[in-house]
Amino acid sequence: MAVYLDHAATSPMPPQVLAAYTDALRVVGNPSSIHGPGQAARELLESGRDAVAASIGADPAEIVLTGGGTEAVNLAIKGLYWARAREQRILVPEAEHHATIDSVEWLAAHEGAMLDWIPVDDLGRIRLDALKRALAANPGDVALVTSLWANNEVGTIQPVRELAALAARYDVPVHLDAIAAYGQLPIDVHELGVAALSLAAHKIGGPVGVGALYLARTATVEPLLHGGAQQRARSGTQDAAGAAAFGVAATRAVGGVGSPNLGERAARMARVRDRLLDGIRSAVPDAVLRGDPDPAGRLPSNAHLTFPGCDGDSLLFLLDVAGFAVSTGSACAAG
Ligand SMILES: Cc1ncc(COP(=O)(O)O)c(C=O)c1O
Repeated sequence: MAVYLDHAATSPMPPQVLAAYTDALRVVGNPSSIHGPGQAARELLESGRDAVAASIGADPAEIVLTGGGTEAVNLAIKGLYWARAREQRILVPEAEHHATIDSVEWLAAHEGAMLDWIPVDDLGRIRLDALKRALAANPGDVALVTSLWANNEVGTIQPVRELAALAARYDVPVHLDAIAAYGQLPIDVHELGVAALSLAAHKIGGPVGVGALYLARTATVEPLLHGGAQQRARSGTQDAAGAAAFGVAATRAVGGVGSPNLGERAARMARVRDRLLDGIRSAVPDAVLRGDPDPAGRLPSNAHLTFPGCDGDSLLFLLDVAGFAVSTGSACAAG
């Protein structure tokens, strides 16, 4: 039995979530249908949406359910950009996930976007002074600021409150990719005041292919998908079973804003992470921890190390043979 340590790529579904998912899959009915079975599916769908909303302090009407995290990020970045077509600059930190990098580069190649890559420091943290300069240079032409809440590879937490406050000063909408931070750090979207925030169910034990975009009531995005207008900014028959399972996973991992679920989970993850790091350091004293060495500045689940003189892919292969599932970087960039 492999020791599965690659939760940054995807996390196993706890039995409670799996049971909710399989039970919900037995419910026949399109949540948009008005007959009984349709309404049963609608109830499942909305219970999931409510739980996801509660986990980040949002109103259910602000949650757009998507087919995964990548779609949420694409909808936020392209949707905000298109809705503000006269502002062409996108401010984006240099260390981002490919869902963001490829979206902004596509907008630059096809839609005339101008990308302002904001430098990050040695720990992967955005340089707020550089962001401030980029905003102040000409705030009127900035379509949006987009940033990770926490880096999915090295675990560095971004100063999202300061970032949001800076952008708010210039009335520029902010999207945060909170996919790596979700289930590990407290998120309260109303307190933060951002326009959009992306989530994915499978990082917290929900199903793959199910995600959500928080869209503030005041935010306007142009949809990616056109059709039956089942949701604000997204068309397509809604996935009631996926939403129900996402909701159970969200309640289990996070609960509501201020609930003890998240704190207990984060403390447990940090204890396991620290034990792992102590063991590695005593066995391999020259191993180097990447990202922020201060536990308050990195995700509680993240241990990212380099081993001098050692090739990452070879190490990954040898660990796999020895029964340990790890990554050398983002799964979407592997291979
Ligand atoms: C930070 C971050 N953004 C975006 C994604 C993409 O999400 P998904 O795999 O659900 O499409 C991931 C996960 O792979 C991620 O870690």
